Amino acid sequence: MDFPIIIGNWKMNLTPHESEMVAKKIVAGLPSQGVSAEIVLCPSFPALEKVARVTVQSSIALGAQNFFWQESGSYTGEVSAKMLKEVGCSWSIIGHSERRINLRETDSEINKKVKLALAYDIVPVICVGEKYEEREGGQKDFVIMREVTSALKGVDKFSRLVIAYEPVWVIGRGEAIDPEEAQSVATLIKYTLRDIYSHEVVEKKIQILYGGSVDDQNVNQFVDQELIKGVLVGGSSLKPEIFLGIINRLTSNAN
Ligand code: PGA
Repeated sequence: MDFPIIIGNWKMNLTPHESEMVAKKIVAGLPSQGVSAEIVLCPSFPALEKVARVTVQSSIALGAQNFFWQESGSYTGEVSAKMLKEVGCSWSIIGHSERRINLRETDSEINKKVKLALAYDIVPVICVGEKYEEREGGQKDFVIMREVTSALKGVDKFSRLVIAYEPVWVIGRGEAIDPEEAQSVATLIKYTLRDIYSHEVVEKKIQILYGGSVDDQNVNQFVDQELIKGVLVGGSSLKPEIFLGIINRLTSNAN
């Protein structure tokens, strides 16, 4: 729980072959002295097995970008948490804004996914964050509190979960928000969590990440914030040299 978390979200960008190549470059470039960070790669579904064969030889964990909110059955085109577990996923992103927006994923589906992830011993990485209009309309805090609270409704037993604050309007923008603002949202998330769980559970079992245009130049500013325990990285995780730069910066920071 003490090392920073670095999650690479490859989205729908790399074919299985390309994913394997990028994973190999990342594994080969890991610092020789070992890594004092928890690193997770989240390829697309068809690439999971190929990437798993590469990461299994390293300290990198495998994550999924999503799964379906039912356990199994007649859901053509969907993938279950159990399937992900079998191919080696120990993490999964849940409720990414691109899914909330493009696939109309709802708070209640996200809540079901959190429960399923925990049932299959998959660490849920619950994404929350405001859209630009919500921010401009003064609804930012309300949106974040609602997304956190509804994702965790009825979630009482877990060994670990992660919340990633990703302001929707900076995803893929190339310019992140002010790190102090990320810290103040992390504070809001903590207060929201404290309404649901004990101090001990919040401190020991839940980690808060920042995501949105993180790169090797700005990553330290975020992780230096007291409540931000790592980063969720999109575009910069597709470029092994930049992703390794992020790992190197956080690893030397932690040592
Ligand atoms: P980005 O994406 O790093 O390209 O902004 C982050 C994310 O969508 O998780």
